[in-house]
Amino acid sequence: MQILVTGAAGVVGTEVCRKLTAKGHTPVQVARRAPAGSDVIAWNMGSEPAPEHLRRDWDVMVHTAASTRWTMSRDEATSATIAPLRAALELAGPGTHLVHVSTAYLAHGGTAASGVPEFDGYRNGYEWSKSICEGLVGGHPGAATIVRPPLILGRRDDGGIARFSGPYTLLQTLVSGLAAVVVGEPDGYAEIAPVDQVADAVVEAALGVPPAERVIETVAAGSHCLQLTRMLDIILGSINEWRAGQGLDPVPRPPMLSADQWHRFYLPLVHEYLSPVQAEAVELLGMFEAYTSMPEPFEPTSVVSDPAEVLRRSVAYWMATKPRLARRTPEPWQLVA
Ligand SMILES: NC(=O)c1ccc[n+]([C@@H]2O[C@H](COP(=O)([O-])OP(=O)(O)OC[C@H]3O[C@@H](n4cnc5c(N)ncnc54)[C@H](OP(=O)(O)O)[C@@H]3O)[C@@H](O)[C@H]2O)c1
Repeated sequence: MQILVTGAAGVVGTEVCRKLTAKGHTPVQVARRAPAGSDVIAWNMGSEPAPEHLRRDWDVMVHTAASTRWTMSRDEATSATIAPLRAALELAGPGTHLVHVSTAYLAHGGTAASGVPEFDGYRNGYEWSKSICEGLVGGHPGAATIVRPPLILGRRDDGGIARFSGPYTLLQTLVSGLAAVVVGEPDGYAEIAPVDQVADAVVEAALGVPPAERVIETVAAGSHCLQLTRMLDIILGSINEWRAGQGLDPVPRPPMLSADQWHRFYLPLVHEYLSPVQAEAVELLGMFEAYTSMPEPFEPTSVVSDPAEVLRRSVAYWMATKPRLARRTPEPWQLVA
């Protein structure tokens, strides 16, 4: 079977390639940069022409290459996410089953309460570009499966993950003290999925019978979904248990403010006094609000059971891999005069 995996060095691509290899397949792997000593082929998709040897009759193309940055402008998201998909589609023929990794947050459509007109009602440039990508997948003449994960954490068994991005920023801001407050709804839902389950959904689609009609798989906890207060309890509980074992003071629990309180009362008052680093943290953490305070969980086709355990293992793996960060003494905010 001729299988191409794009974004093969990233969080999802690494796990997908591991699983395909374990099942006896030899996927051709591409990423923007080729990690030293790996089988990955370097190709900056959308900016460089495809290497000639990638022009073949692919049975399956798993497309994960994209930027996961929420703060992208339309132009940035077009080149970072839409252009790589267009480049992949140029290599896909009518006999290619395209397995495209999207995001579960498109379930809200471009009508989220926090939608932005610049992004056609989506909440940010990332979601906007993923919606355009799903439209492009609809134009692929062959079979197509779309896999929609929520926030991705480490593997269920050991918390392992190829890179710490997205949700891991929250851990870093908590231990550094940059998360002076947590903004969100205490009962809001926060969907997470272990990377191995996301990869299972991708691999099952890739090796299964190509669907006659486009299929959408959503990996999420649904009725088991964590709520923000519990999520914070688990994160701080895991960090502080580990710190106690190291003889370190616990990380204090930041106060929780509703988005309304924060945006209407607190932020306008403090904004001009924030240092550039604090302002950047506020912008980044602001992006999390929508992801950790959902009014309803998703309706999964692949159910994430016991997400609390996934979160505990993922935090433990992060601390074991980044002990210097996990040992930091949180610095309380000081306002710039
Ligand atoms: N992580 C999450 O929480 C999450 C949640 C929902 C959906 N998703 C979706 O899952 C997919 C994979 O995300 P991820 O977390 O695995 O991302 P990631 O860890 O950032 O990895 C992205 C991979 O794509 C490659 N890539 C990016 N732009 C490229 C380009 N122009 N040409 C070639 N390769 C390029 C990167 O190459 P380098 O290795 O050289 O950087 C990297 O290998 C994305 O479509 C994302 O939208 C992710």
